[in-house]
Amino acid sequence: MDITILGIESSCDDTSAAVLRNNVLLSNVIASQAVHVKYGGVIPELASRAHQQNIVPVVDTALREAGVGIGDVDAIAFTRGPGLVGSLLVGVSFAKGLSIAGNIPMVEVNHLQGHILSHFIDLPDRTLPHPEFPFLCLLVSGGHTQIVRVDSPLAMEIIGTTIDDAAGEAFDKCAKVMGLPYPGGPVIDRLAKEGDPEAFRFARPRIEGLDYSFSGLKTSFLYTLRDRVAADPEFIERRKADLCASLQHTIVSILLDKLVKASKQTGIRDIAIAGGVSANSGLRDGIVAEGRKRGWRTFLPEFKFTTDNAAMIAMAGCYRYRNGEFSTLDVAPEARLEELSQGEKLKVKSEKLKVNLSPK
Ligand code: KG4
Ligand code: ZN
Repeated sequence: MDITILGIESSCDDTSAAVLRNNVLLSNVIASQAVHVKYGGVIPELASRAHQQNIVPVVDTALREAGVGIGDVDAIAFTRGPGLVGSLLVGVSFAKGLSIAGNIPMVEVNHLQGHILSHFIDLPDRTLPHPEFPFLCLLVSGGHTQIVRVDSPLAMEIIGTTIDDAAGEAFDKCAKVMGLPYPGGPVIDRLAKEGDPEAFRFARPRIEGLDYSFSGLKTSFLYTLRDRVAADPEFIERRKADLCASLQHTIVSILLDKLVKASKQTGIRDIAIAGGVSANSGLRDGIVAEGRKRGWRTFLPEFKFTTDNAAMIAMAGCYRYRNGEFSTLDVAPEARLEELSQGEKLKVKSEKLKVNLSPK
């Protein structure tokens, strides 16, 4: 039986809605919020207001582009967390309203599961490569850096995580000290293409196991700039490309080291990346090169699935729908989903959820 899912994503600063039929994407509309650029980071209250303004036209456009009426939708999948509570509230409340109005069941989705399951979406005109279970996914975004062992669409375990900053945060914070605009990751990626990745050396973490740390690198980057600028006020401007290339090279090699270790430990050689930083060209090239050397099958997401989007939420929602995991109308957003802590399963407590809207 065909299943049509409307996905809604509002965890941070992108308002997005998508329609998925089984695993084929019919539409994926994203309204990004330019309002944060001038503040150099996401301002939560402004994000909530922008979601409030955007959500109705975004959902309406997604349904129209898909050629789907609300009566054709089998379930509404929405992001419950993790994310900014004020942002999440807009998507969760909108999903509830639509659910009541149309008598459509709701399915809650963990945003991080969504990023990982974006690897199972197909496009109307072509199928995309999908990893086989079990696989490892390096999930790298502005808020998270994790190695996740994925045993099935709904059984995932975090086997390594950052103990301080996320990789995207390291890109963004270092960009800020160079005076680059927010978000700094894509800007560094672009400038790095002109620079020498070996020009500067920055501190690398010495952490046991599969965990990451990026705060030492950030401090080392800051001290290098401080010392060099003291001797030459034009230093950043003159060496910007080399600084970006060396920083990117260091972040990518830190990410890859632990991923190689995780693959050796688990024996898993289907390796995927997901999240905003998975758009980074250095990381994409690095994973492919490492994969060639080690006999991995590597899975890089389409660029449109690297940043936050509702297509991935609809995909994860589709798996939960098939598994009969529905949400009740008392569901509330969670800034941090406790289930995401290390070693525990990435699973929303389904035993607590009673179905009060039956599937059609
Ligand atoms: O997944 P995402 O869109 O939002 C979060 O859930 O955090 O990730 C945003 C992060 C930002 O830190 C941004 O700088 C980073 O992804 N990013 C990149 C690139 N594109 C986005 N970092 C490095 N290189 C890129 N090309
Ligand atoms: Zn994200």
